[in-house]
Amino acid sequence: MAATGLIRRALSRVQSLPVGKPLSIRLRPYASEAEAQLVQPKARSTSNLKTFQIYRWNPDNPSKPELQDYQIDLKDCGPMVLDALIKIKNEIDPTLTFRRSCREGICGSCAMNIDGCNGLACLTKIPSGTASTITPLPHMFVIKDLVVDMTNFYNQYKSIEPWLKRKTPPNPDGKEILQSKKDRAKLDGMYECILCACCSTSCPSYWWNPESYLGPAALLHANRWISDSRDEFTKERLEAVNDEFKLYRCHTILNCARACPKGLNPGKQIQNIKGLQGKNVA
Ligand code: SF4
Ligand code: SF4
Ligand code: FES
Repeated sequence: MAATGLIRRALSRVQSLPVGKPLSIRLRPYASEAEAQLVQPKARSTSNLKTFQIYRWNPDNPSKPELQDYQIDLKDCGPMVLDALIKIKNEIDPTLTFRRSCREGICGSCAMNIDGCNGLACLTKIPSGTASTITPLPHMFVIKDLVVDMTNFYNQYKSIEPWLKRKTPPNPDGKEILQSKKDRAKLDGMYECILCACCSTSCPSYWWNPESYLGPAALLHANRWISDSRDEFTKERLEAVNDEFKLYRCHTILNCARACPKGLNPGKQIQNIKGLQGKNVA
């Protein structure tokens, strides 16, 4: 009915034009202003507005950090916190800075603190309620907005030498070093780690000693190589972390297990390292 009316109105305008005048008809692809006003109240009533308070700090304009409010309509947004951040960046404020890559919980780059809990923005559903607060991972140096400096965290990971170390020379025929299914299963609960740092940055011991305590993520990886049947440096690996600060700052509070978005339990792996200390391992 509305379309027929529009066509009839357009035709009547054409018929009333003086003969010989160049014909120019502007087609309007959307509803007329009056029609838009008619549908607006309905659109407003179905919107689902939510405010995100997001930590902002810019090193190029170093005033105090602040929480900035952004309001978006969740009806027009994907379900995850990362969807909301991308929408804000694309449609409201292109200066908002955060890391993300895979949006599948694989790369670990979108780790941040959402309403007080560390997590991956791409795996965290937008919390219910009218407002949420998003801040960087706690107790980390901020580079800009939600981006933190991961240098110390990666150096600690590097310090546990996360690669296979052998004393036996490689097979001359280039064949792989085999592992039984049972030995392979010992790596479950560790190899899945994506180094997002949610665990380490939720650990009070790591907050107080970030330089000297290795933290749950690096220690989980230390245990991953200590437990690998193909590795021949188990004893040396245990000795390398057998230190009052590197290892024994863990007090088994298990914040790390609660924070891990991959469902891992770094505290348990740290217990394993402690349990192996002093034992006669090869
Ligand atoms: S269990 Fe250890 S590593 Fe995990 S949060 Fe507690 S002190 Fe930190
Ligand atoms: S153990 Fe979990 S929380 Fe910690 S770095 Fe690995 S994936 Fe992230
Ligand atoms: S974007 Fe890769 S883990 Fe979230």
